[in-house]
Amino acid sequence: MTNNIDLSVNIGSLKLKNPVILASGTVGYGNEISNLTDLSKLGAIVTKSLSLKPRKGNPPQRIVETAAGMLNAIGLANIGVEEFIKEKIPFLSQLNTSIICNIAASSIDEYAECVRILTKEDTIKAFEINISCPNVKEGGLIFGHDIKAVAKVTEKVRAATDKPVIIKLSPNVPDIASYARVVKEEGGDAVSAINTLVGTSFNIYTRKPKLFNITGGLSGPAIKPVALAKVLEIKRNVDIPIIGLGGIMCWQDAVEFMIVGASAVQLGTVNFINPNAGVEIVNGLSDYLTKMSIDKVSSLTGTFVI
Ligand SMILES: Cc1cc2nc3c(=O)[nH]c(=O)nc-3n(C[C@H](O)[C@H](O)[C@H](O)COP(=O)(O)O)c2cc1C
Repeated sequence: MTNNIDLSVNIGSLKLKNPVILASGTVGYGNEISNLTDLSKLGAIVTKSLSLKPRKGNPPQRIVETAAGMLNAIGLANIGVEEFIKEKIPFLSQLNTSIICNIAASSIDEYAECVRILTKEDTIKAFEINISCPNVKEGGLIFGHDIKAVAKVTEKVRAATDKPVIIKLSPNVPDIASYARVVKEEGGDAVSAINTLVGTSFNIYTRKPKLFNITGGLSGPAIKPVALAKVLEIKRNVDIPIIGLGGIMCWQDAVEFMIVGASAVQLGTVNFINPNAGVEIVNGLSDYLTKMSIDKVSSLTGTFVI
């Protein structure tokens, strides 16, 4: 409670002290940002995507600034599950915020195996599954663009842990609500929406792509209207908790996501511009609720009027 305002939220069985979460891939494993902000003021932080074995990711250039956003093609570079447990859990276990572990994989079994290993760690309160990864066994098709694969990943991960399972949906599909529906049917606790949109950028003098990978994921304010529409589409069609993200820069954006259906929000690109944005958004939400005479932030969720 801050000023008698209840900022706590429940996302399925996951209880957070407030709805502001730092998004995967934008704050490393937490220690990278801990000197620049007070992580204990946040609802949760999501780790960089972890795979079973370490991954080097793509060669540079991996990040390009765009109008109102950025493109990234990091290629899921990460230290792997084993090193994460050894090197990062001791730091994360001391933080007074919830830790959500994000998982990436190149096969359905790898997702389940990562979760089976990590679920033994008390520090990890929930799993977020990044399905925007190529399915190596199925010729590189992105899991998140194949509804049967999304169902299977959810089912297998669900069987591997009792902790909350959040599936992070790709916006690069025609009917995002049907993906949220299979997550619910297979026992997922929540969805997060959205991951990045596919984009590219070229140098007009060399005529070469600016990213080594040619295409990358577009994030930042440029994608906010798309993200809001995807959250709204899920909210109107499927009864499942939603964590909204995509271009949130300030508390007003967070309120907008909650009104269209999000139970909580994540901040990604803004962390590169203002590492203290999360704390400022928590304070902004609290002041807004006071001004509006609303005593619980959770009562904002899905209250849009059409
Ligand atoms: C540099 C960078 C790296 C990212 N890495 C990951 C990742 O490892 N796993 C993941 O699920 N999402 C990753 N994302 C996506 C973000 O978590 C988020 O879904 C997306 O950026 C949209 O939110 P934003 O507009 O607030 O940044 C990354 C985004 C950026 C900008």
